[in-house]
Amino acid sequence: EKGQFEHFMLKEIHEQPLTLRNTMLGRINDRDEVSFPELAPAAGAFKDVEKIFIVACGTAYHAGLVGGAMIEKLTRIPVQCDIASEFRYRDPIITDRTLVVVVSQSGETADTLAALHESRRRGAKVLAITNVPTSSIARDADFVIPTMAGPEIAVASTKAYTTQLLAFCLFSIYLAQEKRTLGQKLHAELVQGLKALPVQVEKVLENANEVKLFAESIKDADSLFFIGRGLDYAVALEGSLKLKEISYIHSEAYAAGELKHGTLALIEKDTPVIALVTHMELYEKTVSNIKEVKARGARVMGITVEGNVELLNAADEICFIPPSLQLLAPILAVVPLQLIAYYASLALGNDIDKPRNLAKSVTVE
Ligand code: M6R
Repeated sequence: EKGQFEHFMLKEIHEQPLTLRNTMLGRINDRDEVSFPELAPAAGAFKDVEKIFIVACGTAYHAGLVGGAMIEKLTRIPVQCDIASEFRYRDPIITDRTLVVVVSQSGETADTLAALHESRRRGAKVLAITNVPTSSIARDADFVIPTMAGPEIAVASTKAYTTQLLAFCLFSIYLAQEKRTLGQKLHAELVQGLKALPVQVEKVLENANEVKLFAESIKDADSLFFIGRGLDYAVALEGSLKLKEISYIHSEAYAAGELKHGTLALIEKDTPVIALVTHMELYEKTVSNIKEVKARGARVMGITVEGNVELLNAADEICFIPPSLQLLAPILAVVPLQLIAYYASLALGNDIDKPRNLAKSVTVE
C-alpha cells in the first residue's frame, strides 16, 4: 500500500529512517559491540580471511563499493568489488581464505546467484547480504545478513541501498572486533554515528524543497554529470544510475579528478553538474573541480556537509546534509540524489515505479 504517497518509490525513500533503525535493531548491545544473532553459529568463521570479494549487480554493486571501503578501513583486509556478470567469467583468484560477500536486495539475481555458486565451487566461504531471507541467494550462501528494509516494490532501489550500506558498516565493525583492528575511540564514534543516522535522514527529507526545484529544472537537460572523489564518487555512481533508470535522462558519474582526462569536453553552457563534496580531506580538490566546470558554463548543484558555506560561492545551488563520519556520509548523501531522480521523473510524467524496459528482479543472465 502506498498510503499518503503517490508512488512506492517516494514511500520507500521516506521509510529510510525506519528501515535504518530496523537494520540496527538487536545488533548493537549496551556495550556498543556489534553482533549478528544470525552469525552466532559461525563464531570465529572469519578469523582467517585474507581477501574479500564483494560481488553484486546495479545498485547492490554500488553499495558494495562503499562497503568495501568500510571493510578495508576498519579491518585492513584487502577487498575487491566486482560486477557479478564479470566476476563469474574472469577466473577469480579464490582460496579457502577468501570470503565472497554477495549483495542482493531480491536474493534472486541470476548473475549474483551464479557468482555465489562459482565462488563456493572454488572453495570460498560466501556471505549474503540480502533483503529476502527466503531467497535462493540466502539459501545457497554459507552465512546470511538480512537487511530488514521490508518489501521494496519500486523498481528503483532506495531503502535497500541504504540498509545495505548500514549492514556493511555493522559487518565491518563486527569483523574488526574479531580481528582487533578497531581502536576504542573510532569504535565509539562509529556506533554513535550509526545511531544518529535515522534522525539525520529525517532531516534531509524535511529539507527536500531545494532538490525538488533543482530536479524540475533538469527535466529537459540532454545530459548531466555527477562528480565526486572517494566515497562521494561511489555515491555519484548510484545517483547517476537512479536518474537514468527512472527519468531516462542521460547522465554519467565521473571521478572528479578524471574530468580533465576527457569528460570536461562535454561541459557546455548550462550543463547540469551535481557535485558531491562530503569528503572533507578532499574538499579543496573537489572545489577546484567545481570551478573548472563552472568556468565552462556548467550549472552546479553541490551536495555538502552543513557548515561548508564557502561552497555557496563555488556552486549555484547547495543541498546540505548533517555532519557525520566520512564512512557514514554516503547514507545521507544519497538521499537528495534519490529525490532528484524521483522529482525529475515526476516532472517528466514517467511511470516512476515501473520504468520502461526494466524488471524488479533480474532472474535471467
Ligand atoms: O535484487 P538485486 O539487489 O540483486 O538487484 C540488482 C539490480 O538489478 C538492482 O539493484 C537494479 O540496479 C536497481 N533497479 C537499481 O535501482
